[in-house]
Amino acid sequence: MCDCRNPTGGRKVVQPVAWLCITRSTNAHGRRIVGSLRIAHRLEGLPPYVPGRRPQGGETRRQARLASNEVPWPPQAAIVDAMKAALEDAHRYPDMQYTELRDAIAAHTGQPSDRIAVANGSTALLRDIVGVLVEAGSEVIFAQPSFPYYRTAAIANSAVPVAVPLVSHAHDLEAMHGAITPRTRVIIICNPNNPTGTAHTNAELKKFLARVPGDIAVILDEAYVEFATDVDGLELMEEHPNLIVVRTLSKAHGLAGLRIGYAIGDSEVMSYVSRLGVPFRIDSVAVAGALAALQPEQVAESELRIASIVKERAALTAALRSRGWNVVESAANFVFLPLGESTTSVAGACEANGVLVRPIGGGIRVTVGSAEDTDHLLNALPALSNEPC
Ligand SMILES: Cc1ncc(COP(=O)(O)O)c(C=O)c1O
Repeated sequence: MCDCRNPTGGRKVVQPVAWLCITRSTNAHGRRIVGSLRIAHRLEGLPPYVPGRRPQGGETRRQARLASNEVPWPPQAAIVDAMKAALEDAHRYPDMQYTELRDAIAAHTGQPSDRIAVANGSTALLRDIVGVLVEAGSEVIFAQPSFPYYRTAAIANSAVPVAVPLVSHAHDLEAMHGAITPRTRVIIICNPNNPTGTAHTNAELKKFLARVPGDIAVILDEAYVEFATDVDGLELMEEHPNLIVVRTLSKAHGLAGLRIGYAIGDSEVMSYVSRLGVPFRIDSVAVAGALAALQPEQVAESELRIASIVKERAALTAALRSRGWNVVESAANFVFLPLGESTTSVAGACEANGVLVRPIGGGIRVTVGSAEDTDHLLNALPALSNEPC
């Protein structure tokens, strides 16, 4: 028996398990039914988010964790201290407007704070920006393979996902432009692209933006921008008011566990993004950590770490290529090896040898970490067959 709510009567009743929790079928209108509950139509085909593999409990063997594009170092001491101090105030709600945090991001980016929205991760912002801009049936264009959450953001908001295949592992900007219809409300460009690591320069984006009608929003997802050169969507904002840049403290700032993302764009759109988001969605301990991370001294340390990853990326790419692997030139903190049908077996071999990588988009994506991580990966990869990938 389970204690469930009867949808017809609204009264709390005790029902047999089979009544509500077990039955799964489809009704005459093709709607998925769980017991008497109906899954919303708009969520048909909603993909689950598949995270990179983490070591399982009990896995004692040393793992190189190269599946989630995290940095290999723990947070800087000043950031940890700030979070510890913030625990003392955990009985209080945070400032709902996140004024101090938005001001700190404004100082960091050189953008006015009323053009900034913050949330618990840039993933949450992506969903809510789309939510602010689409109607049911609007189209959201993005590339494929790219960050899988774009599809979810569209479906969750009753919009239609329109995936445009990459060309040579990069966004096909021409085809994306060609995919625009009267129903298009949002185009998302992941720059650099996850999982392939390719990036468009500002010059290329400028040409693209010039052709996109001003009533279509272009979201530049710059989760990895700090690892790239000649890429900075903020420089394009003045000329293109329909541009929204989304960034995160998860990658270059090394704070994936804190869940802090920010978006910069039109102030009214950002105001609605904040209104749509769950109130108080960033906790006060994470706010304290983010404020510390944005202090000049901590930013300078993060920049040193970024430089070391960029250097390691070149070393890893060269080492892999010298062993015969096909590696896409990357502007991010990961590299992509297009492997086609060998993807699963190569990822499995790495895992069996203690190195977690991410099979995705017809290849494996490998996070660039420390020199030691590079060694682990090179030792874990299986011998290449004679078949070129
Ligand atoms: C392209 C891209 N955008 C956004 C995110 C989400 O980042 P966050 O941790 O801020 O939610 C990721 C995370 O992997 C990503 O790869």
